[in-house]
Amino acid sequence: MSGKLASEYDSWKKLQHIYDSERSKLILKDLFAQDPDRFSKFSTDYVSTSGPDVTFLLDYSKNLITQPILDTLLSLVREAQVESFRNKMFAGEHINTSEDRAVLHVALRNFNDFQIQEAGTDEVASVLEHMKVFSESVRSGEWKGYTGKTINTIVNIGIGGSDLGPVMVTEALKPYSKRDLTAHFVSNIDGTHIAETLRACDPETTLFIIASKTFTTQETITNAESAKEWFLSSAKDQAHVAKHFVALSTNTKAVTAFGIAKENMFQFWDWVGGRYSLWSAIGLSIALVIGYDNFEQLLKGAHAMDKHFKETPLEKNLPVLLAVVGIWYNDFYGAQTHALLPYDQYLHKFADYFQQGDMESNGKTVTKNGHRVNYETGPILWGAAGTNGQHSFYQLVHQGTKLIPTDFIAPATTHNPIAHSKHHRILLSNFFAQPEALAFGKTEEEVKKELGSGASEALIKSKVFEGNKPSNSIMFPLLTPATLGALIAMYEHKIFVQGVIWGINSFDQMGVELGKVLAKNILAQLDKPEDVTGHDSSTTGLIHYYQKFRKE
Ligand code: F6P
Repeated sequence: MSGKLASEYDSWKKLQHIYDSERSKLILKDLFAQDPDRFSKFSTDYVSTSGPDVTFLLDYSKNLITQPILDTLLSLVREAQVESFRNKMFAGEHINTSEDRAVLHVALRNFNDFQIQEAGTDEVASVLEHMKVFSESVRSGEWKGYTGKTINTIVNIGIGGSDLGPVMVTEALKPYSKRDLTAHFVSNIDGTHIAETLRACDPETTLFIIASKTFTTQETITNAESAKEWFLSSAKDQAHVAKHFVALSTNTKAVTAFGIAKENMFQFWDWVGGRYSLWSAIGLSIALVIGYDNFEQLLKGAHAMDKHFKETPLEKNLPVLLAVVGIWYNDFYGAQTHALLPYDQYLHKFADYFQQGDMESNGKTVTKNGHRVNYETGPILWGAAGTNGQHSFYQLVHQGTKLIPTDFIAPATTHNPIAHSKHHRILLSNFFAQPEALAFGKTEEEVKKELGSGASEALIKSKVFEGNKPSNSIMFPLLTPATLGALIAMYEHKIFVQGVIWGINSFDQMGVELGKVLAKNILAQLDKPEDVTGHDSSTTGLIHYYQKFRKE
């Protein structure tokens, strides 16, 4: 981010020229036919150089790119000074300019490797130690509830980054979980969420984890208060709260005011963004579910990806490659969305997690310098686990009018080899088939041949697949904690690279504020119709309708 709009870079203009003049020649079928080595040229193996062994294959050959296009995209990375901004992030410079904060989720998984100067980074190890000791005492049964029983249920109360990461990771790493410890996650302010969860809990054996960076978030504090009230209606004595409530936060004052003792608080720091916080104390529920050692593997896998991002030349740098290919579609092809399609049931929350990761980070219209962009920024991120998606939205991806770039993600080996892996082979045959079908489609000639003479023109046309739909494919041997850590870190850094190229601040979330302020104002007006003032006629009408029919 050099102060220029991305569209002012020479490489951006060159990309626009290439797109305008060569687009019609960018046909995957032809590109593969012309170059038998296309796969080896446009795929790369990632091998971790520190910590646990992690390998990935990123195949980006089914993208609408040529070597000159990729070279120009990488020139854009250089022109936008991505490497310099990356180094600033790792050095702890305050690259979150609107909030004057460092962006140091990488410091949470650093294990004293990179030298980072920022207050709090020297406390990371002691918080991890606190998490280790606490999670081991709960898992071993040493930690007892107020009647002397062991804890068999945890309820994480948090929202956004204080919920989505723990939910996604505990689902993804279920094979490593303590099966007799049930984990619930409550996020929604809708009372149904906490009420239904509490129905499945026993106050004597439940531990509540109140996860909130600010400890002021309305949803979390309201749910936490309701949980405390529910607990005290059985436990009676406020002193018992210490055995059943812990807090994960940066706000010691608010935590103690809530009634949670300082020693039951797990600290983190303002340089940890909510959507980048699963590596911090916010990961306590993860450590409880999969065990601290596995949590540490997750961190180490991410750290090795940090090293890769920091030290690997751009041409082989996975987050950079994913980022530039994404920019090619987002800014030149006009693709509005990007789909994450994991062929692994354990990753069924992966797209939900990165919906916040990507959209809260890069959903911005002004640059860091306050200029309105004249190009598209962050894509709409969505997706679902394969093969379920194939039976719902893939139709549109294959034959709809929109271009939807996709990432297919799959492990070579399953944790559940049922019936000699028949399930997994079928799953993977779909994982291989879908990108192939998207890229190469089916021509009219092929359809005619298949249908034989007598088929109507309309039927023939309806069965044609235009193809030329781009995708990345990511494969790894097995979904382990370290592999998942690396995978998440790879996407985090992809988001970073795109944000720097677009010149935006990927680390604030001002857009969430307006709705919060308006809701607070409306909450104070809900009692009586005559209190409802200062709104448009639609909002007033909706509130009056509610007031007429409510029964609470
Ligand atoms: O959605 C806005 C946001 O600030 C997110 O960035 C954050 O993850 C979430 O709210 C929860 O915030 P907190 O952890 O402070 O409760």
